[in-house]
Amino acid sequence: MSLIRAGWPNTQAMLPQAVSIREVGPRDGLQSEDPIPTAEKIRLIEALSHTGLSRIEAVSFVHPKAIPQMADAKEVWSTVAVNDAVTYSALAPNLVGAKRALQSGFADIEVVVSASDTHNRNNIRRSTDESLDELAELIETVHRDEAEIEVIIATSFGCPFEGDVPASRVGAIVDRVLADGADRVAFGDTTGMATPRRVAELLDIVKGAHPDVPLLLHFHNTRGTALANVLTALGYGVTEFDASVGGLGGCPYAPGASGNLATEELVHMLHDMGIHTGVDLEALIEVAEMAEKMVGRTLPSGVLRAGPRSRLSKL
Ligand code: COA
Ligand code: ZN
Repeated sequence: MSLIRAGWPNTQAMLPQAVSIREVGPRDGLQSEDPIPTAEKIRLIEALSHTGLSRIEAVSFVHPKAIPQMADAKEVWSTVAVNDAVTYSALAPNLVGAKRALQSGFADIEVVVSASDTHNRNNIRRSTDESLDELAELIETVHRDEAEIEVIIATSFGCPFEGDVPASRVGAIVDRVLADGADRVAFGDTTGMATPRRVAELLDIVKGAHPDVPLLLHFHNTRGTALANVLTALGYGVTEFDASVGGLGGCPYAPGASGNLATEELVHMLHDMGIHTGVDLEALIEVAEMAEKMVGRTLPSGVLRAGPRSRLSKL
């Protein structure tokens, strides 16, 4: 049987040996839960910091009226006990937010812009072009502080308001932000519209044009395709993924959006494939249990419910 498209993974030999996971539960996850106390957020970030995760997106610097859940970002970041082995980042929607992140001491910043105009207007109150017009100055400001900047292109695989977003449109945004000096690019599947076919379509374009630029993929498991999407991206040599503990998350500006791919589901699959993540899965599951108690609702992670496949049941 032939492969559907060249580039899809068909042998273990084609897959990377190690993957870097960025935990986004404290930001992407908690921004769409009922607000939890600052001390609880700090407890979650500190617990995640001791699971072997190497990257954590800790907070976002957005307008407190837009996302009240992140209003205490500065306080969280100034109080949390950091682990030197972890790289912590903050998300910003605009120049004001990036400056606040720098002033708070972040050296790794993500700026988000949607490929879909309608989603960007809903989320950031600007057209995509207006956000992109601000980006060169934002990137320069971040670099002046010797910090790094990743551009996250939201709705890269589809928009809940506009439908399909052409991969060529996303590719053109990548060209532009790299020309403006972005250090890295990420693709957000904001409402879980990605499928392996769409991932392959986008990576064909982006990897073709920019084979050496670090790419990160951010999937939501809204329609159950997140791990299939990861597998597709691994076949293209992508080694960076976002995930959120327990599958916390959603998007407050996208109806029906559900949680991110659960970090423990991602780690569980990768480890069984012999792909290194550095994460202690059992420790991570304990943090997922903690996150579930914090938000007071059942989280969607299957590995949280059932445990890893190696966990035996009593007869
Ligand atoms: N953080 C805090 N305050 C901000 C800010 C930020 N990132 N960006 C702008 N502001 C302030 C401005 O300084 C200005 O203050 P002033 O009235 O005291 O002068 C005020 O907000 C209005 O500025 P404006 O540029 O008109 O912002 P806006 O009202 O159009 O809101 C965003 C734009 C981007 C700030 C807002 O829509 C937002 O925070 N969105 C984030 C959405 C999000 O996080 N979604 C989930 C992540 S993908
Ligand atoms: Zn997300």
